[in-house]
Amino acid sequence: MLEPSAPAHPRLEIVEIAGASADERFAHDVRVGLSAPAKAVPSKYFYDELGSALFDAITHVPEYYLTVAETEILREWGWEIVRMLHGPIEFLELGSGSSVKTQLLIDEALRVQPALRYSPIDISSQALRTAATGLVERHAGLEVRAVAGDYFTVLASKALRFERPVLAMLMGSNLGNYAPDEASALVALVGSVLRRGDGLLLGVDLKKDRAVLERAYDDPIGVTAAFDKNLLARINRELDADFDPRTFDHVVHYDEQRGCVESFLRSRYAQRVRIAAIGLEVDFAPGETIHTESSYKFDTGKIEMLADDAGLHVAKMWTDRAQRFAVYLLTP
Ligand code: AVI
Repeated sequence: MLEPSAPAHPRLEIVEIAGASADERFAHDVRVGLSAPAKAVPSKYFYDELGSALFDAITHVPEYYLTVAETEILREWGWEIVRMLHGPIEFLELGSGSSVKTQLLIDEALRVQPALRYSPIDISSQALRTAATGLVERHAGLEVRAVAGDYFTVLASKALRFERPVLAMLMGSNLGNYAPDEASALVALVGSVLRRGDGLLLGVDLKKDRAVLERAYDDPIGVTAAFDKNLLARINRELDADFDPRTFDHVVHYDEQRGCVESFLRSRYAQRVRIAAIGLEVDFAPGETIHTESSYKFDTGKIEMLADDAGLHVAKMWTDRAQRFAVYLLTP
């Protein structure tokens, strides 16, 4: 169901795709995840207001090289990226578009065409409104048509309309937070909305030395630990629970075989936690963990397989100078 919301700016439209309420989904997923034999809470719940601010802080932590490396690629190669399709083009971004990186690509596109239509998709209409208002105010030639909803629902709906060749973007290694089958399904779904002449830009982190990866996800000043523990604080705030986040440690492990950094919160001792809003009591054994995030790492072989399954092929790849991160252009 489409629900246009009040316009915030003449060049900004926000469309909401109605679904189950976000609060209901959170309560349901916490109940299911903490009742399972191997406890887990999906990483998408990191991003409440405090969690988003903590993620922003992570991008400034030197050990978390991903954002710096991707920004380097876009600064160096943005001019070429926007010229890869036959312009004028339009942008579709899976993500709210709040980042400096999106702005770099918008700047580059507006250097070669007078106007640009930009369609960001994000679960949070508030994040879309904040990011998109800033973007239209900063760029006179920009028109934003944002769609609020989860990527899968929006892509499968008729909410998107394109008039020009589309450069779709899934940046920031966001693909890495999906399990392999979900990542394939997402790339395939994007592939199914792309036509000949369109492209998908994928920003992914590359496989590398275990020590570098584990330091990136367990930084020495504890910003990532705070980001992880905020998940427990969020359950306390929103579901009236009594987690004491100080009694859990943030631990990470790089599973080399699967090419994935796994993050957990580990209980220091046996304890019982009450989650009043969902009437749940959760027992923890000493050392028992809650799985909070998987961050998959890629190589060109893996991207070629994903592309192939989606009916796409790798048209070009760019990396930062230290070859830590890559941006791939996939085309139908
Ligand atoms: C948003 N996402 C790609 C980040 C990642 O690298 O998996 C989230 C993150 N988790 C810990 N640090 C950053």
